[in-house]
Amino acid sequence: MRLTPARRINGRLQLPGDKSISHRAALIAALASERCEISNFSSARDCASTLGCLQDLGISIEHKDGKLLFAGGEKLIQPGKSLDCGNSGSTLRILTGVLAGHDLSAELVGDESLSSRPMRRIIEPLELMGAKIQATGGKAPIKIHGSGKPVPITYKLPVASAQVKSAILFAGLNAEGRTTVIEPSPSRDHTERLFNGFGVPVTTTADLSISLNGPARFTGGAITIPGDISSAAYFIAAAMLLPESRLTIEAVGLNPTRAAFLSVLSSWGADISTSDLQTERNEPYGTIDVRGGITRTAGDAERTLSQSMIPSLIDELPLLAVAGSQIEGGIRIRDAGELRLKESDRLAATAVNLRVMGAEVEEFDDGLSVLGPAQLRGALIDSHGDHRIAMAFAVAALIADGETEIAGSECVAISFPEFFGLLESVVVR
Ligand code: S3P
Repeated sequence: MRLTPARRINGRLQLPGDKSISHRAALIAALASERCEISNFSSARDCASTLGCLQDLGISIEHKDGKLLFAGGEKLIQPGKSLDCGNSGSTLRILTGVLAGHDLSAELVGDESLSSRPMRRIIEPLELMGAKIQATGGKAPIKIHGSGKPVPITYKLPVASAQVKSAILFAGLNAEGRTTVIEPSPSRDHTERLFNGFGVPVTTTADLSISLNGPARFTGGAITIPGDISSAAYFIAAAMLLPESRLTIEAVGLNPTRAAFLSVLSSWGADISTSDLQTERNEPYGTIDVRGGITRTAGDAERTLSQSMIPSLIDELPLLAVAGSQIEGGIRIRDAGELRLKESDRLAATAVNLRVMGAEVEEFDDGLSVLGPAQLRGALIDSHGDHRIAMAFAVAALIADGETEIAGSECVAISFPEFFGLLESVVVR
């Protein structure tokens, strides 16, 4: 994909459903006792991987009038082939949790990137719950034989991970007794909200201990998935960085464990407001308005992203590094070693690409420091096959001098197939 600089962003958007919420809604609908109807399901290829795996596990899913219909009251059956999770860490990790609570055998496989990502983090707790798991070197492919009667556990997560937390909670649904996950810092809480929204009470205490009592089964019902805030982030950052921009995004998720980047951009002097606040099955959503330009100079503290802030910013950090290259004093990201374990090593990919565009970047084991403000110049960017890197550098391309080419940009389909089309619809050149 070739991109030329933009003058401003102007428009109004509604985005496909949130990827994280869509994965969970599909899993819940597959396990529910009654009929479920999902509207605005994510168009991400990752979410299609979750649906494909559920169909291979015997769940019938009907596509009708843009909605997904699940009959309810179905049972997972032993799959006749390997479950293909594609590029999707959420599919592989959370579905392994689901299977840990079912008396059947399955093999879960993924693409090259997914097969290089760490899976011990789910294997350890799920084995404690009674699942039998084989995974050479702690990586996919994963062979699991679940237990129809999993053991309820109390498990302290070594790293804040919503995927691992969710895997344990899904396995706990079939356990006789109380399953508790304790987080080191808060990660996205969609699983907790949707479990409560579909009739399975989950409690969270102030010391981040999250519990449910099994056995428990979801009720059915309808859900409209709020627009994906992580997809919205690229448009919001572009609008902030291009003065004179005016952007409105409607019906977008505003869950606080996901929307933290809005506070970060506001603390840097961005003009961002939210309105029309509503909730859907405990998930908050609303309208976001952005006016272009940065109105003040942020202090050191506001330009340092670290510690317990990191999990709620995790998918936006490459984008924040790009945006941070444009603010007085630049940006510092620490305690974010987890970024090296995503679809690509996102710290390395961000550092290399920012340097190619002319920014000064220091890379640490657990973060980056980017000097700002930097005048970026168009360049050949390597997406590393990682959707979030491709989209973060599409934003960089809009504010750079000259043309930028993003190699491997088709990977945006992993989370947001409509990205480049929608971007062109709001860019003014
Ligand atoms: C996700 C959790 C995060 C995030 C990923 C989606 C989820 O991963 O990076 O894009 O849907 O639970 P971790 O749980 O590994 O931090």
